[in-house]
Amino acid sequence: MTSIKKVGIMTGGGDCPGLNPVIRAVVRAGIRKHGWEIMGIEDAFQGLIDLDYCSPHGNRWLTEAHVSGILDRGGTILGTSNRSDPFKFAVTDPDGTRREADIFDQVLANYEALGLDALISIGGDGSMRIAQQCIERGMTNIVGVPKTIDNDLRCTDYTFGFNSAVQVATEAIDRLHDTACSHDRVIVVEVMGRDAGWIALHAGLAGGAHAILVPEIPYRIAPIVRKIRERRESGNPYSIIVVSEAARPQDGEQSTLGERELGAMQRFFGAAGRLAHRISEEIDLQIRHTVLGHIQRGGSPSAFDRILGTRFGEKAVELVSRGDFGKMVALRGTSVVGVPLAEAVDAQKLIVPDHDDLVQTARNIGIVFGDED
Ligand code: F6P
Repeated sequence: MTSIKKVGIMTGGGDCPGLNPVIRAVVRAGIRKHGWEIMGIEDAFQGLIDLDYCSPHGNRWLTEAHVSGILDRGGTILGTSNRSDPFKFAVTDPDGTRREADIFDQVLANYEALGLDALISIGGDGSMRIAQQCIERGMTNIVGVPKTIDNDLRCTDYTFGFNSAVQVATEAIDRLHDTACSHDRVIVVEVMGRDAGWIALHAGLAGGAHAILVPEIPYRIAPIVRKIRERRESGNPYSIIVVSEAARPQDGEQSTLGERELGAMQRFFGAAGRLAHRISEEIDLQIRHTVLGHIQRGGSPSAFDRILGTRFGEKAVELVSRGDFGKMVALRGTSVVGVPLAEAVDAQKLIVPDHDDLVQTARNIGIVFGDED
């Protein structure tokens, strides 16, 4: 087995609450149990693409002092990036042409120059896919740790960050109930989640929404307007509708913000505004919309995410120490285990409307999804 002495750790993709607890656990367990040197790599693969990259700290060897007092801090002390995919990196040619290039060889050379024996990559589906590609191209000693508010990674019951984001969205929906109720209004609240509707589904249920619109269930306006009317007729003059940023009408597309930028993901924009406008065309009521946006990604991690992040970090150290690479740590029931990275990145974990209990539960208590007859 490889003798492990120097381990790199990075956080990639969109930040979320719980990243710092993972970093803290890796540094503590790695140093205390194994005497490793642990290098914090700045801004995901940026720190390996360019060893002189320093924003704001640069790559650095982490001590327990660096991770003291960060358990309850949102964000990531290492910085992150969702534009540093070394297999699709945006470059500008001498003639000014912009294109996506494969610069993995540079990453591998820098990884070797730093003398790293292994890498712990904390990230979402994009980061796990990059980790798997690195393994396939010869940078084999990688263990993944699944984070994302979207909860869309397969093979793990939960990613950390999701619970905190749902809590933020639920609290926002609670507040919107108060003001919607006072003014007899319909309020449409947009949550994140990309192609997965998990945040909308969980926060919608926890926050007592009357309709929940998710990307996995394209909607029509008629059932939503019917729900609003039924509520009014039964003495509830206000309604709360939770909509995922990537939800789409049956007769339309997702609301996106222009063309995807090179080296970046497609951005979503306008789902709530569009929906509010379409409802207003059907019913004579005051309608408002609110976009929660990046508020869902900030703030102190929930107790659940602090514990999950700590368990994930400690497990990642165990897998590295055993030379059990090519794995992603995962929550299965109440156990934290290692699963093959290749399996985790095979497909996204999306809501399966006919199978997911929560959808049935919501339908059975009268919440509409916009696909009703
Ligand atoms: O994947 C996490 C996420 O917050 C998505 O829910 C959202 O679509 C995206 O990141 C936003 O990314 P950015 O930070 O680049 O705006």
